Amino acid sequence: MTPDHLIEIADQFGTPTYVYDLDQIKVQYQTFKTAFPWPLLKICYAMKANYNPSVLKAFHKLGAGIDAVSPGDLHMATACGFYVKDIIYTANNITDAEMKEIAETGVLMNIGSLSRLEKYGRTYPGTRVCLRFNPDVVDGAHDKIKTGGDLTKFGILLEDADTAAAVTRRYDLKVTGLHEHTGSGLKKADSILKAMEQIFSVAVPGRFPDLEFLDFGGGFKVAYEPDEPDIDINILGRAVVDRFSGFCDRYGRKLGLWFEPGKYLTANAGTLLVEVNTIKRNRSRIICGTNSGFPQLIRPMFYDAWHTIDNISHPLGSPAVYDVCGNICETGDLFAAGRAIPEIRESDILAIRDAGAYCYAMGGTYNLRPMPAEVVVENGVPRLSRRRMTPQELVESICSESPDMV
Ligand code: LLP
Repeated sequence: MTPDHLIEIADQFGTPTYVYDLDQIKVQYQTFKTAFPWPLLKICYAMKANYNPSVLKAFHKLGAGIDAVSPGDLHMATACGFYVKDIIYTANNITDAEMKEIAETGVLMNIGSLSRLEKYGRTYPGTRVCLRFNPDVVDGAHDKIKTGGDLTKFGILLEDADTAAAVTRRYDLKVTGLHEHTGSGLKKADSILKAMEQIFSVAVPGRFPDLEFLDFGGGFKVAYEPDEPDIDINILGRAVVDRFSGFCDRYGRKLGLWFEPGKYLTANAGTLLVEVNTIKRNRSRIICGTNSGFPQLIRPMFYDAWHTIDNISHPLGSPAVYDVCGNICETGDLFAAGRAIPEIRESDILAIRDAGAYCYAMGGTYNLRPMPAEVVVENGVPRLSRRRMTPQELVESICSESPDMV
C-alpha cells in the first residue's frame, strides 16, 4: 500500500484506523507454506495475534487451521468458518468449567501441566489429547515473551515425560500430538531446531503409540526495525524438514508437522493510522500528540517494541526528533521516543507500521476511548471490516452490563 493509498483510507474511514493488507497476508501464508515442504504440514494460525473477522476468514479460505487459547477464540474461529477438527486448543491455567466447555466441543486439547492432564484423564478417559512440553530452550524478542525454561509457566517439564505417559496410560488417553512453543520473535534461527530435538527425545517409540503429529508452535521472527534482517524462512524450512524427516525415519512413521505462526503471518501487513493534533516544544523535546494511545497499540510501552512511524502526509519534510505520544493520561503513553521523522505538522497523518500482530488484539478501552476502526485491503480495494464505536456506544455497552445502571 502506498502512502497515498493510506491517506485515502484515512480520509474515507477517519482515524484512528487499523489497516490490514489481506493480499500481503496471503503472500506471507504461501511463503511460509512453501518453505516447509512436508506432505503432512499443518499451519494453525495463532489467532491471538489478530482475531479480526476478515483476517480470520482469509486464513480459513487459505486452508489454515487455528491455534485457539480461550473459549472466546474458539467461538470466534467457528463463527469465521473454521471446523473444530482444524482447531487446537492450547489450555493455560484453565478451570474445570472451561475444560468441560472446550472438551465437549470435541476440539483437541493441548495440555501443559500434569495437574490438568490428571483432571482431564479422569473426566474424559479414552479421548484424544495433545501434550505441551517446555522445550527448555530460552529465546524470544523480550523476556516477557520467552516461553521455555524454568521461569515460565508453560508446558510439562521434559523430565516429567514418563510421568505424563503413565497418566495417559492410566486413563487410556490417546496422545495424538506433542507440542512445544519456544517464544515469540525467536532471535536465533537454531532455537527451533534445538526445541525440535527436545520433542524428538520425548517421542521415544512406544511411549505414545497413537502419535499423529508434532507441533513446534510459532515464534518466527519478523523485522520491525529498519535495518533488522528478516529470517530466511526457506533456509530454516529446509533445515526443519530435513531433521523432521530424519526423525520420522527413525520413528518408523511419517508424522504431521504442525506450526502455529502468528506474527510471521500478520505483523508486517498491518498499519495504524493516527492523526497529529498537537505539536509542543518542551525545551529539549518536541512532543507530537496524536489521536490514539497505548491502549490501542501497547507494544512500545509494554515490550519497548519498535514500530516504524512514517509521516505519510509530509514524507519529504526535513527530519526532526520527536516523542510521538498518544491521548491517554499517562506519561508512558508513547509510540516512540526520540525518533527522527520528517517534519510533523498538526493534522498530518502518521502510519505506525508493522501493527498487524498483537496490536488491536491486545487493545483495551482505558480512559474510555473506543478502539480504532479496522479496514482491510483485498485485491487492492479497501473496505471497512469493523467500525469504530462512538464513546456513547462504548458507555452504553458498559452500562447495559451493569445491574446498577439498568
Ligand atoms: N503458539 C503458542 C502456544 C503461543 O503461545 C504463541 C504466542 C504462538 C503460537 C504464536 O507466536 P508468534 O508466531 O506470534 O510469535 N504479545 C507479544 C507476543 C506474545 C506471544 C504469545 N504466544 C508481542 O506483541 O510481541
